[in-house]
Amino acid sequence: MARKLLIEHAEVPGIAAYDVYRKHGGYASVEKALKTMSPDEIVEEVKKSGLRGRGGAGFPTGMKWSFLAKPEGIERHLVCNADESEPGTFKDRYLMEKLPHLLIEGMITSSYALGARRSYIYIRGEFMYILRILEKAIAEAYANGMLGKNILGSGYDLDLVVTPGGGAYICGEETALLESLEGKRGNPRMKPPFPAVKGLWGNPTVVNNVESIAAVVPIVNEGGEAYAAIGIERSTGTKLISASGNLVRPGVYEIDLGLSVEEFIYGDDYCRGIPNGKKLKACVPGGSSVPILPHYLVTKTAAGTDRLMTYESLADGGFATGSMLGSGGFIVFDEDQCIVRNTWNFARFYAHESCGQCSPCREGTGWMEKVLYRLEHGQGTLEDISLLEEINKKIEGNTICPLGDAAAWPVAAAIRHFRDEFEWHVKAPQEAQTRNYGLIQAPLEA
Ligand SMILES: Cc1cc2nc3c(=O)[nH]c(=O)nc-3n(C[C@H](O)[C@H](O)[C@H](O)COP(=O)(O)O)c2cc1C
Repeated sequence: MARKLLIEHAEVPGIAAYDVYRKHGGYASVEKALKTMSPDEIVEEVKKSGLRGRGGAGFPTGMKWSFLAKPEGIERHLVCNADESEPGTFKDRYLMEKLPHLLIEGMITSSYALGARRSYIYIRGEFMYILRILEKAIAEAYANGMLGKNILGSGYDLDLVVTPGGGAYICGEETALLESLEGKRGNPRMKPPFPAVKGLWGNPTVVNNVESIAAVVPIVNEGGEAYAAIGIERSTGTKLISASGNLVRPGVYEIDLGLSVEEFIYGDDYCRGIPNGKKLKACVPGGSSVPILPHYLVTKTAAGTDRLMTYESLADGGFATGSMLGSGGFIVFDEDQCIVRNTWNFARFYAHESCGQCSPCREGTGWMEKVLYRLEHGQGTLEDISLLEEINKKIEGNTICPLGDAAAWPVAAAIRHFRDEFEWHVKAPQEAQTRNYGLIQAPLEA
């Protein structure tokens, strides 16, 4: 079993309390950073670590930090994106609920590195109970001199505010989040300017995911090189994976990047395979926004090599035969699941969550949902399948934020790999209402 850098102590009784967390080595990174390191040295360590943003896009964190504008006399901010609303992704919730002080520790060390003196945790509105856990932990951190004025006698001051989100998936998009944090409707902003130049209240701002910020703790404690020694290629360190669907042991796992997908699905230390002796039909490896993979492309790439849990390997083959690591929302489908129904279900989510600002997304997500409804309910035509592909092309790349792409890619991938199943819904609508299609054949088997 791989070493855990983040959630090693998650199940220790009472670990959400300051004293217990401290006894288990908590806040060491704050002591090390504030007493022995300059802000620039921390940024260097994060760069060396190769850490990539864990919110979905995988942008290098150290590079993002180094883009932060530093004009004299202007405040800067660190904002933690704890909106976690992507279907299939529930790792940040676990981390915050079990280890609130780990996030606070990461916020302090990261804020110090960025020169921020007022930082925010923007947490999904539905996670009210976790907001309370964080509020309590923040109060403890203030009471113990980890937040507020002159932290640990270093002369560094930091205030940390936790605030509930607006209750919409779009508020996880970083510029919509900033709008929402400013008290406005959560509509994404046009970029540029990017938040690093003009973010919260017009000030230079870094927005990072919960897990990215938590990962700064082991990076500072053990050094960037030690972190980079875990993983392979440009996928360094560990990653939290939310595993759900037809798995014997679903849950949140911290894996070393580079683990094989085969081991993750079937290994004793991980998900232990598909229940009831069923066969694997498909997998969405990175949350509902990423392309679905049919069974023959889940554990192997199209080139026949082992598929690994890395940014590179999961994307191997591009969208033709690959997918993305995304936010690590790993959803497994067994042979009894209906791909058309699942695609409709995802499309329904995006149609509901489109903010409505851009016409291609506002209209397109609604049309896709209606057409998929027809196909799933035995009212579709073969033209509907091509219509979906047409709508997809009109949305992809034509919106202010990537929600449009996130809605389009899963539909495109489902049709690309499961066209026979979509057509079967048209040709045998009665049958499709009463039984599932089962496994599709791999091209070479056909
Ligand atoms: C529609 C939409 C929803 C998003 N939701 C989240 C989210 O809940 N949490 C998150 O960290 N990033 C989310 N993102 C990505 C953020 O815009 C941003 O890239 C991320 O917070 C940056 O942090 P990172 O560099 O640490 O990954 C979302 C993006 C889009 C387009």
